[in-house]
Amino acid sequence: MRKRERGQKKVIRAAQIQLLNAWFIMAKSRMASSIAKSPCEIRLATPDDLPGVAALAQVCFPQDNGTAELTELWHRSGMAAYPKTQYFVAVREGCIIGYCSWSFIGGFHSGVIELEQLGVHPDHRNQGVATVMMKEGLTAVRAFLREKTGRELHAIKVDTATDNTAQAMYRRVLGTEVEATLKDFLFGNDEVIMLKRFSIGDKE
Ligand SMILES: CC(C)(COP(=O)(O)OP(=O)(O)OC[C@H]1O[C@@H](n2cnc3c(N)ncnc32)[C@H](O)[C@@H]1OP(=O)(O)O)[C@@H](O)C(=O)NCCC(=O)NCCS
Repeated sequence: MRKRERGQKKVIRAAQIQLLNAWFIMAKSRMASSIAKSPCEIRLATPDDLPGVAALAQVCFPQDNGTAELTELWHRSGMAAYPKTQYFVAVREGCIIGYCSWSFIGGFHSGVIELEQLGVHPDHRNQGVATVMMKEGLTAVRAFLREKTGRELHAIKVDTATDNTAQAMYRRVLGTEVEATLKDFLFGNDEVIMLKRFSIGDKE
């Protein structure tokens, strides 16, 4: 082998080792930060969870309803729509630290579901709570659809403001992509509509 080629191979190998080391350090610190926090339980919400969900919604979406009373009314209506709308909560040390709601749209047979709301308390963010809540909620909703209708999911829909960083999270966790942008939609913000379409045989 020529001297120059050997040199190039050495440089590539050194870069590969550096990359591997960086990956290990990243994986270790991520694991440490999630282990440092107590785990959280994800479960289907019950009517008793309404006060906790409403209080959290006030923190996560203060602009949505203004008062605590209206926030509670909105979520009471949402929870009453079960099983069309299904709420899931993340509970840590007895407290609700996150919630999300999935809704069947276009009837059950359409197989189209929407992630309507997703919120995690600021003290518990960036630890993967939203990620695990979305995934477990999605698994439960998918199982519900199979059991009731024998059908598979056709699509997931989720909307968010164009400047909300949650967009990247939805892409990563749910596989949704921006399909359309609505101008001046909620509270004067532009909103993206993101979709994930499933093809036949896309089972999980
Ligand atoms: C958006 C929101 C729900 C995210 O909640 P979260 O629990 O912090 O989300 P996650 O921790 O699962 O993911 C957030 C980031 O943490 C990272 N992360 C995931 N697991 C992690 C872990 N164990 N340790 C450290 N970071 C982690 C993820 O990579 C993700 O990064 P990304 O944005 O680059 O994809 C939360 O910020 C929130 O409630 N915001 C206000 C309401 C809102 O805007 N809701 C969504 C719009 S409708």
